[in-house]
Formats: sequence, structure tokens, C-alpha cells
Amino acid sequence: MTKELIELDDVWKIYQMGEVEVPALRGLNFKVKEGEFVSIIGPSGSGKSTAMNMIGVLDFPSKGKIYLEGKDITRLSESDLAQIRGKKIGFIFQQFNLINTLSAIENVMLPMIFQDIDEDARVKKATELLEMVELGKRLHHKPTELSGGQQQRVAIARALANDPDVILADEPTGNLDSKTGTNVLGFLKKLNREKGKTVVMVTHDDKLAMEAERIERLMDGTMMSKKEAEELNGLRPTASKKKSKKNVAKQSSSIKRSSKKSASKNSIKSSKKKSALKRGKGGRIK
Ligand SMILES: Nc1ncnc2c1ncn2[C@@H]1O[C@H](COP(=O)(O)OP(=O)(O)OP(=O)(O)O)[C@@H](O)[C@H]1O
Ligand SMILES: [Mg+2]
Repeated sequence: MTKELIELDDVWKIYQMGEVEVPALRGLNFKVKEGEFVSIIGPSGSGKSTAMNMIGVLDFPSKGKIYLEGKDITRLSESDLAQIRGKKIGFIFQQFNLINTLSAIENVMLPMIFQDIDEDARVKKATELLEMVELGKRLHHKPTELSGGQQQRVAIARALANDPDVILADEPTGNLDSKTGTNVLGFLKKLNREKGKTVVMVTHDDKLAMEAERIERLMDGTMMSKKEAEELNGLRPTASKKKSKKNVAKQSSSIKRSSKKSASKNSIKSSKKKSALKRGKGGRIK
């Protein structure tokens, strides 16, 4: 049986803005198994980036626990957490976060410096990674000399520099046209399938989200239940569509039965959520 790699247990994140408290996460429960490809969707402001920061131990929760491979890492020191991040987790940020004064290869080599890898090995690994993302001919270009899609691919190569077990991608295709976005997603899928990497991806794009094995929906700082989400729009990941017809038929009749029962009870709640999701999907409210 595959084991739980990351678990968030009743995680709260409350930002303090002067006198005002902003609850970004409200009792979030989330689990990722080793080798899974999970996408997280949800409207703007629902807490997706905050959740990714927790999953990647970039920030401390206000309340709740974070487990990595079954070990409680919630209260580790910043230097221990930095070690975990450096070795185990690769981040792909929406805004790339590349260093503009460094070339593509230097950007990819940077995380390896912090792991004390010698220079020859750094150059070799960074070159291989950039070749993998089809940027072998752009090693010495600075980010400003690269297209958006190329910068995103440098960011992917950098995320893989220390061969992390987990790749966290916060809207990795958010700034790209749909063709380049599909290519970037292709790289992530390949890393998951061929190299066994665990991938958690935040996206606004339902079509891309459905390429994952599992879709989780965030709403107001908590994950929606499967039932709530299915009532909302019936989005299902590609992998679950491959289930046998019998299973699907069984599933859909039980959904029909349960949704009939709870239709009136949930109609107000669900229409509120539906319009909120639509707002987030159509245009970003930042
Ligand atoms: N550093 C911060 N200080 C105060 N409030 C914050 C901070 N970061 C996020 N928030 C608030 O927390 C909530 C969740 O923000 P978050 O960035 O996680 O949303 P998101 O789902 O990633 O949105 P988007 O799709 O627009 O990227 C928002 O209401 C936001 O205003
Ligand atoms: Mg975000």
C-alpha cells in the first residue's frame, strides 16, 4: 500500500493585519500519497497559495499539524525546515521567481549550492535538467532574454535540481498560453509517471486540473467534500473516468439518490458556492 507522504491535519492560518484577523485556512485537512498527482482548484482568495505554503513548509500554521512521512514537522526549527525543503521539495512558483542577474544554468545550479554539491556536478546536473525541458540551447540566457514559457521551464528545471520527492506547482501554467501550458503540464505528468515524483498542482484551469489523478477543491479555507464538489459541477479527474462502466453507473446512481435527498437542504449552500467558484474561474479578483 502506498504511504501518506504529506498530511495536513486541521490546519488554520490566520493572518494578522493590524487589528483585523484574516483567516486564510480554516481547519484544512489534506493528504497526499507517495507518487500521486493531485490538483487543487478553487476561487481566488480561497487559500490555495496559503495551503501550498503549508504543504511545502514555507510557513507555520496558526493551528493544526503538518506531517511528512508520518513525522510531525509542525514545530521544527527554521533551519531544519530549510533542510527538508532543500532536499525533499521542489517549488514551481506562479511568478517563476528566477533571479534576473543569473543565467538559466546559474538559476538551476543555485539550490545545489545550498546542498554542498561541487561545481562540476552542479554544471552537469543543471545542463541535463535544462536539456530535459528542451532548453539545452538557452543555458546562458538570462530570464529577461527568455520567453514566458521558457522561463517557466527554467523554473521547473530549478525545482528538480536536488531531485526532490515532491513537486509543488502553484499555477505553473497561469501566465502561459494554452499550448505552452499544455506542454508544461506534459513535463509534470512525465515526472510523475516516469520518475515517480509526487505532484501537487494549483490551477485555475479546469481542463488542466482534470489531467490529475485526483482533484481537490478549496473553498473559504477548507476542502469541499466529494459530495459538495460533485453537486457543484461534476468535475472528475481523467484517471477516475477510466474506472469500469459498472463502477461509474453504481457511483452515479448513488450520487443521484443522495443528491435527491439533500437537494433542498443543500440548494442554498450549493448555489452560494457555485457562484463563488464561477467568480474565481472566470476572472481573478486580486
Ligand atoms: N500575507 C498575507 N497577509 C494577510 N492576508 C493574506 C496574506 N496572504 C494571503 N492573505 C489572504 O488570505 C486569503 C487566501 O489567500 P491565498 O493567496 O491563499 O489565495 P489563493 O486561493 O491562492 O488566491 P489566488 O487564486 O488569487 O492566487 C485571501 O483572502 C488573502 O487576502
Ligand atoms: Mg494563489
